[in-house]
Amino acid sequence: MRKPILIANWKMNGSLHANQALLVRMLAKLRPFRKTIDMVICPPFPYLFQVRDLLGYTGLSLGSQNASSAVSGAHTGEVSATMLQEMGCRYVLVGHSERRSLYQESNANVAARHKQVLATDMTPVLCVGETLEEREQGQTMTVIERQLQAVIDASGLEGLSSSIIAYEPVWAIGTGKTATPEQVYEIHRAIREFLDTRQAGTGQSVSVVYGGSVKSGNAAELFQSPEVDGGLIGGASLQADEFALITAALADTVAEAGSLCGMLD
Ligand code: 13P
Repeated sequence: MRKPILIANWKMNGSLHANQALLVRMLAKLRPFRKTIDMVICPPFPYLFQVRDLLGYTGLSLGSQNASSAVSGAHTGEVSATMLQEMGCRYVLVGHSERRSLYQESNANVAARHKQVLATDMTPVLCVGETLEEREQGQTMTVIERQLQAVIDASGLEGLSSSIIAYEPVWAIGTGKTATPEQVYEIHRAIREFLDTRQAGTGQSVSVVYGGSVKSGNAAELFQSPEVDGGLIGGASLQADEFALITAALADTVAEAGSLCGMLD
């Protein structure tokens, strides 16, 4: 059974003061959802320690926005997966589109980072998605399959299926443009079908979340489909009220699905 999950990606935002204020407000609002939804906060590296302490025993998990492809040594500016684990991280984003486009992380490089995370007890959150140009050329699934295959090549299907997959269409990130629920459904299904072509049954075992301009106003419709296991939230995760409303929307869809199952039993 896949548990719904919401991941807050703070990107390069925050300060000691702002993080404290945001989390104090957020944690109070998120308390009612702790049992039904896994919640993860991914702050910038320097704040991992602070956020770990603030999360304490709230049940929320700490995540990192990236991890090095190397184990240790002469890699100035990089942070290894084992260091992140030592800091208390339980999840690590890999292959975020901003890393792929602004910092030239190739599919092979992302797969190498993913492999380092897998070597720990942490869960990699593999981000995949197409640019607007690729979508318009009908290349969406070709691009995503290449991104998924690179991880299979490096770590096997088992490595990929031990991850969470985040579908983040590049054109919807930070643009205010959201994919329609139909587009999200279609791609999440296609990702599961791709996994099933490698080994039947794998598709339904993997959590696939959506990211890209998720807000309180569109969360309910985006999370409605059973193909969507939650969200990877950027801008809206920097506002306690917004993030709490998004969480409530996900909790509502879970409750609705639960009562539908009850009716069918
Ligand atoms: P926004 O929610 O700001 O569009 O960012 C999405 C994202 O990139 C999360 O990783």
